[in-house]
Parts: sequence; C-alpha cells; structure tokens
Amino acid sequence: MFRLLTLAWLLVLLPAASGLALTNNLALTPPMGWNSWNKFSCDVSEKLIKSVADAIATNGMNAAGYQYVIIDDCWQVGRDADGNIIADPVRFPSGIKALADYIHAKGLKFGIYSCAGTNTCAGRPGGLFHELQDARTYAAWGVDYLKYDWCNHASETAQQAYSRMRDALQQSGRPMVFSICEWGQSRPWLWATNVGNLWRTTSDIQDCWDCRRDWGGMGFTHILDLQAGLEAFAGPGHWNDPDMLEVGNSALTDTECKSHFSLWCILAAPLITGNDVRNMKPAIQHILTNRELIAVDQDPLGRQGIRVLKNGETEVWMKPLADGSRAVVFFNRGAVPVEISVTWEDLGYPGKHRATVRDLWAEIELGKFKNQFSATVAPHDVSVVRVTP
Ligand code: GLA
Repeated sequence: MFRLLTLAWLLVLLPAASGLALTNNLALTPPMGWNSWNKFSCDVSEKLIKSVADAIATNGMNAAGYQYVIIDDCWQVGRDADGNIIADPVRFPSGIKALADYIHAKGLKFGIYSCAGTNTCAGRPGGLFHELQDARTYAAWGVDYLKYDWCNHASETAQQAYSRMRDALQQSGRPMVFSICEWGQSRPWLWATNVGNLWRTTSDIQDCWDCRRDWGGMGFTHILDLQAGLEAFAGPGHWNDPDMLEVGNSALTDTECKSHFSLWCILAAPLITGNDVRNMKPAIQHILTNRELIAVDQDPLGRQGIRVLKNGETEVWMKPLADGSRAVVFFNRGAVPVEISVTWEDLGYPGKHRATVRDLWAEIELGKFKNQFSATVAPHDVSVVRVTP
C-alpha cells in the first residue's frame, strides 16, 4: 500500500518537478531581425515599426535572412480591469494585432518585449503574475518572438521565472521564439537550454568600441571577451546572445562595424540589427547583408566559434562549419597594421595538408596554402576567411 501510494504521488509530482521542456522547434539557426531599442529607445510607434518593416521587406535585408521585427520596451501603458495588457493608444492607435498583421503581410515575423518583473526596465507594466494571460494575448495578436527582461523581478530564481513564462507560452498554443534577457547574471547557459531559444550573456551593449558604463553597459569588444568559453552551451534551438548589433549607429567607424558584425557571425550570435534600417549608407547595408558572412552565422551545424589564438592586441577566432571547413576571423584591436597567422593545427586540422582559402569580405579565392595562412589586418579591422582542406 505504502509503495503504491508513493508511486502514485511520484506520477502526480513528476511533471511539475521536471518542468516542461522547450518544444517549440524554433531558432534552429540563430534568429535574425531588427529591434527598436538600440536606436530608438522608448520612442516607438506603429508608424516607426511599419516603416521599418517596409524597409526590411524591400531593401535586401529580408532576402539576406532578416525576419523578426521586434518592438522593445515602451509599447505598453497599463492593464484594464481584467488585467489585460494595454498598448499605448496614442502611439499604436490601430492596436498591436493590426501591426502584427501588417508585418506578416510583408512576409516578416513579429516580436514584442516584456519583463519577468512587476515593471519593465523603462517602468512600464511587466508580466509578473500575468504570465498565462499575457501569453494568450500575445498568441491572439500573432506574436512570433518574445524578449523577456529581468528588471523588478520577484524573489525567485531566474530559472523559476523564465520556466514559468516558457510554460505559459507553450500553453498558449502559438510557437514563439523565447528570448531570455537576464544579462547573464545567473549564468543562464547552465540552465536555459530547455527554457529559452536564446539568452543574453552580458549587460547591455553600448554604441562604442570599448566604453564601460557605471551600471554595466559596455562596448562590443568587452562583450566579445565574455563570450570566450561559452561555446559549448550554444547549438540549434538554444543560443548564447551577446546582445543586439550596434552596426550602423553613430559611434563605430565602418571598419569597426565590419569587425563587430564578423565577430557576431563567428559566434553564431543572433543577428538582431539595432540601427535605422530605413536610412542606411551603402557601406552599412553592405555589411549587414553580406551573404557569405551570414552563411557562417547561419551554418546548420550550429557551432559557436572559439578563440584559438590571443597575442596582445591580435586574436584569431574559428568556427567549424557543417561541410568540414572552418570560418576564421583575424582581429586586430591595435592601432597599427599587423600580420596575424594561424596554422592548420590551430584550426584542428593535420599540419602538412594543403587547404584552399577564400576571403569572405573580398569574395575571392586566395588559393591553396600549406600548413598555415597569414593576413595583414588594419587597425580595428578583421580579415575573414574560409579554410577548406
Ligand atoms: C534592458 C535590456 C535592454 C532593453 C531595455 C529596455 O536594459 O537589457 O536590451 O530591452 O531593458 O528597457
């Protein structure tokens, strides 16, 4: 009798104890899209989002793989008497469902932002205690992607909070990419594989090369340093997220934008642009739509690149690709041009063989090389090649 009872209790308790797994089968390659925050902060409206969707659908970005149009913070103003979330009626007069329909009609997907706390980071209503209700609302609106932040959270672990929202999203019946934004504080790469499709690994990226803010924001080179060692935790459906791109905003030079983009591709990072894509100069458009770099990011093997060499201001990053070749980034953080070399053994190949090398920015075959390859790299620049044995 005792044994039977124990067994019965176990059966009842098991699903709750183990939790649901993430079964949305989404983001099998890193998600690509656009998010309003880096450029527009709280200044969001349906007019802005529609014009961004128009641009992405027609300027070559959608053709290059960008898909999700994501409104970040500040679209929401309150809750009605039944607790339903209310969008700002002045900035979104047609409502969020109509906006999602507009974006879907362009062949794009629609993303939205909320927060695991009582309030979002900008002080708008958060999702705490409203998870099921909000997930149902998002599903009814046609949301395809939810970024979920971590300000003003309850006294619970991030794993508890995000698992609850994952379950709510799954119960809504609509598959939505689930983007965990708790800034890497609880080392989500250790627990989030079955909770979210991507998780931020650091505090917020800033539009700069290597600045640091008192509150933790930092430039892309500092964020890059924090990705080394996390590569084992990324794979199809579950990605480390080093934050959205600053390519095309005001502070980085075109060369630095090229480096930032190349390094995010070698990391298999989500490619969520954060600039005004309606109004890009050709150099920025060229960077963001480079097919060969995007193919490295989107490679179906889904391996995050690793730093194989670091020597002062120079480093080499390597990403194994599905066809057995390697993408390689030579990065020069210094102020003078420098020659950087890598051997086939550094890339995990036998030494004495010949391998073909293709320059992915110049889009040319450089020829066959024995045992090693060297690139001369300008200050703050990269050289990106594909090595095929
Ligand atoms: C946090 C997130 C940012 C952005 C803002 C919005 O700082 O990390 O990416 O979503 O909140 O308030």
